[in-house]
Amino acid sequence: MSEHEDALFDISGKVAVITGGGGILCGTIAKGLSRHGVKVALLDIEDDAAKKVADAITSSGGEAAAVRVDVLDKKSVQAARDAVLKRFGKIDFLINGAGGNKPEASTSPERDFFDLPVEATRWVFELNFMGTFIPCQVFGKNLAEQGEGAILNVGSMNAIRPLTKVPAYSAAKAAVTNFTQWLAVHFSLNYSKKIRVNAIAPGFFLTHQNRYLLTDEKTGELTPRGKAIIAHTPMHRFGNPDDLIGTVAWLLSPAAAFVHGAVIPVDGGYSAYSGI
Ligand SMILES: NC(=O)c1ccc[n+]([C@@H]2O[C@H](COP(=O)([O-])OP(=O)(O)OC[C@H]3O[C@@H](n4cnc5c(N)ncnc54)[C@H](O)[C@@H]3O)[C@@H](O)[C@H]2O)c1
Repeated sequence: MSEHEDALFDISGKVAVITGGGGILCGTIAKGLSRHGVKVALLDIEDDAAKKVADAITSSGGEAAAVRVDVLDKKSVQAARDAVLKRFGKIDFLINGAGGNKPEASTSPERDFFDLPVEATRWVFELNFMGTFIPCQVFGKNLAEQGEGAILNVGSMNAIRPLTKVPAYSAAKAAVTNFTQWLAVHFSLNYSKKIRVNAIAPGFFLTHQNRYLLTDEKTGELTPRGKAIIAHTPMHRFGNPDDLIGTVAWLLSPAAAFVHGAVIPVDGGYSAYSGI
């Protein structure tokens, strides 16, 4: 690589706050960014999970810290921000990865739409939307004050077209897409032209939140929904969490300096495929 290309993708020495950093996708993203020289703060409500990721990073020579946070509680997010600043002295990137779905908020043969419990539905909507909005307020203020940085939200394929069974999750991720665009414009017009806001829209990755929908608990075989997803994914597989690292590193790097308010699918072609 030439010197110019090295600088284009250089994110070493930057500090990234990653909510949901104890989870499967964001834990993998954190490890990947650490290999690019990024110092990572793993914020998660499950502090043991975040600590495991932080330990794995530090034992392979990176810099990481685990901080407990509830992304739905602004005071908790503010306390986490203070802890990150104390440890690393600055914040360059915010990745909003805390999110997910739960069976109680999904329709099924036993639970049709009319019986979806409001509380579970509200929980899913709030976790995915407010759980992105609140950290953007808290950490975004730091970025606005320093005049530069990047925010990366984690949307989903189902923001583009809703998936069956998961109405609150789909609607919340659509809200994340809309908010990503809103925030990109708002930051540029009001605070700085050097702060970028984007999102990734992952396709299907087999993790805790969807395993019950995609595989049979007893046999481990694909469910009809799992088979339909593979059939509608031109690359004919689920994503591996590692598939996200390059896109995330690019979106945070100077190489993406003019990419703003964008939602980038990482889905093996799922969203491009009409099925015919
Ligand atoms: N798995 C997929 O196929 C897929 C597809 C598209 C988008 N996503 C999105 O990617 C992100 C990561 O998903 P994942 O599959 O790695 O799930 P995951 O469950 O492994 O990770 C989510 C993490 O968020 C944390 N969390 C939950 N509530 C929190 C709260 N109130 N405060 C702080 N942390 C909280 C959890 O403890 C967990 O560690 C989510 O936003 C998810 O919606 C996943």
